[in-house]
Amino acid sequence: MIAPFQMAAGPRVRFGRGEATFTGEEAKALGIKRPMVLTDPGVAASGSLDPIISGLQNSGLEYFLYNEVEADPSDESMTRAKEAYEANGCDGLIAAGGGSSIDTAKSAGVLIGNGGIIHDYFGFGNVPKPPPPIITVPTTAGTGSEVTCSAIVTDTARRVKAVMASPIMFARVAIVDPGLLAGLPGPIAAGTLMDTLTHAIESMGSPKANPWSRTLCLQAIAHIGKYARRFAAAPSDPESADPISISSTWAGHCFTNTGLGIVHSLSHPVGSYHHVHHGTSNAIFLPPVMLFNLQAVREDYARIAPLLQPPDETSQIDPADEAAPQAAIHSVRALVKDLGIPANLREAGVPGDAHFEIMAKDAAESPQVATNPVHATEEDMRALLHAAMDG
Ligand SMILES: [Fe+2]
Repeated sequence: MIAPFQMAAGPRVRFGRGEATFTGEEAKALGIKRPMVLTDPGVAASGSLDPIISGLQNSGLEYFLYNEVEADPSDESMTRAKEAYEANGCDGLIAAGGGSSIDTAKSAGVLIGNGGIIHDYFGFGNVPKPPPPIITVPTTAGTGSEVTCSAIVTDTARRVKAVMASPIMFARVAIVDPGLLAGLPGPIAAGTLMDTLTHAIESMGSPKANPWSRTLCLQAIAHIGKYARRFAAAPSDPESADPISISSTWAGHCFTNTGLGIVHSLSHPVGSYHHVHHGTSNAIFLPPVMLFNLQAVREDYARIAPLLQPPDETSQIDPADEAAPQAAIHSVRALVKDLGIPANLREAGVPGDAHFEIMAKDAAESPQVATNPVHATEEDMRALLHAAMDG
């Protein structure tokens, strides 16, 4: 018997190489006449947006390009994006970039639809009125933000990454075009795919996981085990980029329904205080957190162990083997190493433990604690931070 569960579908997903050129057609179908295209300066300069821009031009749409999205976008940046939208007479949002661009579009959309300041809407289900229509076009494979109903915003005064989530924040259409990943720098490709792996593993461990989400998460993990190394070495390779890209979207769809776990609780303060790339900090925390959660999710880890087995290991892991759950953790460590991701916080640029007390407190108060398979206290968070420092 399958226990009752709920899954929100989210935006209509349009997946495939070349699909980004239909951005203009999709915008017109939504009634948008003058979209604001949100991106960051790096993506704007990279040429990744060319298919999106040509799609808008071919549809005869005049657009306003807002290329001032920040990494780890702040509360203040959401007000700036909203003001730019209104000053330029826009009537829809196209988020073209990584998680920061997509989260900025969703957050600016909340302000456009509701007024006030972004802090008014932090938390879950606190957005009364809908944003203008949003189309998401990711240029990385990792955040899954194109299909989630949440956004992460840096609360500048409190120095925390606040979560804002509401079904009203879903984009209308997500255009997932793996061809846009071709120009990704290797380290970004590696970090972002580790974000996807973390989403899939944390979603599986959530008390809200269900047969629908677990099936997609397992397939995403299988794709990462098979293609991650190849994709990070050559993001333009369709054989690996396509499955990595779809896996990112699957994992996003799953975690927006199930919630995440304490890898994200710990990663967010590391981002706020030390600006470590989100995927990199997830990769660093994932093995120690898996060890922390091990006893509660042994069966899951046993199932994913063969999927993540490094290619140079010749004897196939048997999920029934007593050592299989632990082998999954070993395989994640091997993947992090092979991808050239820093092994610990110090290597990632965290100079010392000066902020660990407040970071542990912030992590313990984060909403992801409620959907982690094992309850984690502030003391646990402190221990995990220290374990990740030189581990
Ligand atoms: Fe993430």
